[in-house]
Amino acid sequence: MRTPQTATPAIEVQGLEKGFGELEVLRGVDFEVARGSIFALLGSNGAGKTTAVRILSTLLKADAGTARVGGFDVAAQPGQVREAISPTGQFAAADEVLTGRENLILVAKLRHLKNPGAIADDLLARFSLTDAGGRKAATYSGGMRRRLDIAMSLIGNPSVIFLDEPTTGLDPEARIEVWQTVKDLAQRGTTVLLTTQYLGEAEELADRIAILHQGRILQSGTLTELKQLLPPAKVEYVEKHPSLEEVFLALVGDNGTNGAAGTDTTSNDK
Ligand SMILES: Nc1ncnc2c1ncn2[C@@H]1O[C@H](COP(=O)(O)OP(=O)(O)OP(=O)(O)O)[C@@H](O)[C@H]1O
Ligand SMILES: [Mg+2]
Repeated sequence: MRTPQTATPAIEVQGLEKGFGELEVLRGVDFEVARGSIFALLGSNGAGKTTAVRILSTLLKADAGTARVGGFDVAAQPGQVREAISPTGQFAAADEVLTGRENLILVAKLRHLKNPGAIADDLLARFSLTDAGGRKAATYSGGMRRRLDIAMSLIGNPSVIFLDEPTTGLDPEARIEVWQTVKDLAQRGTTVLLTTQYLGEAEELADRIAILHQGRILQSGTLTELKQLLPPAKVEYVEKHPSLEEVFLALVGDNGTNGAAGTDTTSNDK
């Protein structure tokens, strides 16, 4: 669903803070996601990625800061935000006892949409699940399950979709299938915010990447911009450009301090 303010970013986060008791998870997070783009939020286990996604999905209240999704404030206009989005949890949402098609029909009915059967068939076709549509989701492979989850979250044509670790636990082939799905979504104009621990996934998919570390966005930018933070290593006559993984590890640092760009934080002596 489009909002009138097409010039505003799809997601705007400013000074977002969230703690659980003593634990300060988000300590002033800022980022923006342009409409129709793919944005990857990277971070180690426990960095606060899911917490941020839950706040943006209106499932959790922030302690401080503001967040707008589709032009709507998550705290003041949660109903409008929910209309604009479709959260897909980090853990699969499909009901195993139901068939793929029944799962889709159920969600369409919960969203009070007309022709739930037609919506289900359309999505099954789009996600190459037509043949499997009549089978219980329990019999699906990991990749099929993940595609079904994403299909379920597209019911109602959300303008923004959150994918929390969409390919965790998938084998490389299934991962590539999900990547294609995400690329197709963005091509259709959907804004995608994904979290991932697979740096190659961010390299493959994201227009912009942000690294969440110790409660803040340590760096953000395009892949090219992030790679420019480290100089290319020259080995004889061959230029080796740093991979995103090297940029990530240099920024996050192994020793608890933030490794500054350009300094050698690796332990390997050359
Ligand atoms: N409801 C909660 N109550 C208490 N602590 C929580 C709660 N939710 C999250 N946390 C803590 O907040 C921190 C951030 O968790 P979060 O799930 O956002 O991390 P994440 O970046 O998604 O990690 P992962 O990569 O493992 O999914 C963790 O230390 C977690 O234990
Ligand atoms: Mg998480």
